[in-house]
Amino acid sequence: MVNKVIRYIENRYDAHTPVVVKAPGRINLMGTHTDYNLGFVLPASINYQICTAMHPNNTDHCRIYSIDFDQEVTVSFSEIKAGNNTWLNLILGVVDQLKSRIGGFDMVFTGNIPKGSGLSSSAALCSSVAFALSELFGLQLEKWDMAKLGQKSEHKFAGVQCGIMDQFASIFGEAGKVLKLNCLSLTYESISFNIQGYQLFLFNSNVPHALHESAYNDRRNESAAALELLKTKERSMASFQDLNMAILEQYASEIGDIGYRRARHVITENARVNQMCEAMANGRFAVAGQLLLESHLSQQNDYEVTCEQTNFLVQNIMQEDAILGARQVGGGFGGCILGIARDQDLKPIFNRLNELYQTEYGLKITPIPVKISRGCHRL
Ligand code: GLA
Repeated sequence: MVNKVIRYIENRYDAHTPVVVKAPGRINLMGTHTDYNLGFVLPASINYQICTAMHPNNTDHCRIYSIDFDQEVTVSFSEIKAGNNTWLNLILGVVDQLKSRIGGFDMVFTGNIPKGSGLSSSAALCSSVAFALSELFGLQLEKWDMAKLGQKSEHKFAGVQCGIMDQFASIFGEAGKVLKLNCLSLTYESISFNIQGYQLFLFNSNVPHALHESAYNDRRNESAAALELLKTKERSMASFQDLNMAILEQYASEIGDIGYRRARHVITENARVNQMCEAMANGRFAVAGQLLLESHLSQQNDYEVTCEQTNFLVQNIMQEDAILGARQVGGGFGGCILGIARDQDLKPIFNRLNELYQTEYGLKITPIPVKISRGCHRL
């Protein structure tokens, strides 16, 4: 990818010494829909990235070329606004926030993060742009600044009221480490990911998740409403981190079925992040697997962000002896399944799963060999 973007920016824009940045997507071992609920998450950056090359052009506009879509756009800084082009919106959302501090630039980018798979290609794109602009114009942005630029771009230009997990993971990620982030205090610890004798597996359900649909924002509103109601009951309570099942049970009838289940997911999922860290530290991988499955079921029954196909896949792969646990990752309603398995060839298992899946839905899964790799960096 690096050679490719260098070649393209040279040929297209005659730029010979571009800034080149790689920004990864992420998996999330535990902590789904807990980030904007100011709880805990456990993501890691992966070996699939967006690669961006940039060069100043001494004008008041940017020229951006997407290699993968073979599309070029020129936008003047005075005319930046959101439109219909998703990838452009994400880039412009970042540029808009920095435009008073930067000059015109040319940019080309490419990537290998499967789109719509719940592996955060959007966050990776924003991270790569924020990082590259910072390098190109000497902005010396802090890591958190870059993560927040990306998040705000999604909010304002893509219409997704996402949390901070994806941008955080893309920017702060470390090879071989999972990051436990407290989304309330924004403090984190990096934890060595060592599962000797076992392996992580990831496969795409090929049901594109539709984060832009209102369901994601609906979930955010539903859990916020549940929290607000609980705060009026328990005045000392400031966030979901002060909430536990005993308190929730007390107000179960007042909060209503939806509010109750959304809150239960957040409470139990936060607990699972801590339990997952403990299980991994103690080498208890059967427990870690069980936690993954519980997380999937909680997403399915309480938070209602899975879909028929991902439920089918998790349910069927759990029938295999070598599989310890699996869950849907990402924003929801499709995307990838992440799991832990014994360290053996999983091909026969994927083949069996594929057959069942194809018969039932006419779809195939795509295995994605995954490694926990370095976060956003300049080449
Ligand atoms: C998307 C969002 C994240 C997070 C996850 C669900 O990836 O961008 O902020 O909410 O969904 O955990």
